[in-house]
Amino acid sequence: MTDAATAVATAHPNIALVKYWGKQDEELVLPLAGSLSMTLHIYPTTTSVSRRPTAAADTVTMDGLPATEAVARRVVRFLDLIRQRSCCGDHAAVDTRNTVPVGAGLASSASGFAALTLAAATAYGLNLNPRGLSRLARRGSGSAARSVFGGFALWHAPDPDAPDPDTASYAETLAGVRVDAALVAVLLDTGPKPISSREAMRRTVATSPLFPAWLSDTRLDLPRMRAALQAGDLAAAGEIAEDNALGMHATMESADPPIHYLTGQSYRVLEQVRALRAAGGNCWATMDAGPNVKVLCPADQAAHIAEQLTTATGHRTIVARPGPPARLHPHPKPAR
Ligand code: PMV
Repeated sequence: MTDAATAVATAHPNIALVKYWGKQDEELVLPLAGSLSMTLHIYPTTTSVSRRPTAAADTVTMDGLPATEAVARRVVRFLDLIRQRSCCGDHAAVDTRNTVPVGAGLASSASGFAALTLAAATAYGLNLNPRGLSRLARRGSGSAARSVFGGFALWHAPDPDAPDPDTASYAETLAGVRVDAALVAVLLDTGPKPISSREAMRRTVATSPLFPAWLSDTRLDLPRMRAALQAGDLAAAGEIAEDNALGMHATMESADPPIHYLTGQSYRVLEQVRALRAAGGNCWATMDAGPNVKVLCPADQAAHIAEQLTTATGHRTIVARPGPPARLHPHPKPAR
């Protein structure tokens, strides 16, 4: 049984095959378009939340050390949301153990906020189903809504005529997926990103002349991706994913001032992916708010493709298979 005052949860990152890029509501974190992702089996984040009835403030640690002010502020704001929904106003001690390099476009905010949501909702006695958890996780970091679920997850944008857009924007498992896929991550740089995805998204929506076209494309990509995954057509899914990611980066690069997450190394890896494909390989690239390239491929070819990419580029690779949903630990140890 979970002690009501302390809860520990683990969640995994996810990589979008149809990207979320752009909000219609900053405060509620409502996306302009739906997105679809694969949760990974690697790089879990484990977070413990302990209510501290006598504490005068929240404490936030990462791997046992005090979090940066920016991270702590974001976590405390999120705890405030939880406290508003709970009858308990206690402060809390939050400790996060990350195995994913923070801020490098490998979705540490997705696994981080999904784990925090589940642990905090439990410690504060909120009784939420996975849909409710995903709506709450969304407020911490949009992509975290999808990390509540394992396998492939679809995050809905609210319909324009939804009476309550907040209720209408949640993620859920995409049922009926018939591809046996893996993502090979090519690890180029694990340093922090030059600009937060939140700020980059805002600037792109406000200034990129390419954004409106990408937005209508991504709205079409979503049902096409869904159909391809459910039809077992990995080649179609891969083509949609690569076009969608390149389109998203084109919007950022045409923002004012431009945002460059991809580096020369990223473009060289992209060339290699194209070269492998030209030689008959089944592999398609996707990139997020960081330089790393993730390569979608059939699970049974992933080790070989990873080896070919390492040989061709000299970069380390790691193979990720579809991962599990966020889960609560049955016997949490109190946070230190
Ligand atoms: O959840 P955020 O605010 O870190 O945004 C994530 C944005 C991308 O990773 C680039 C795309 C996505 O859908 O995950």
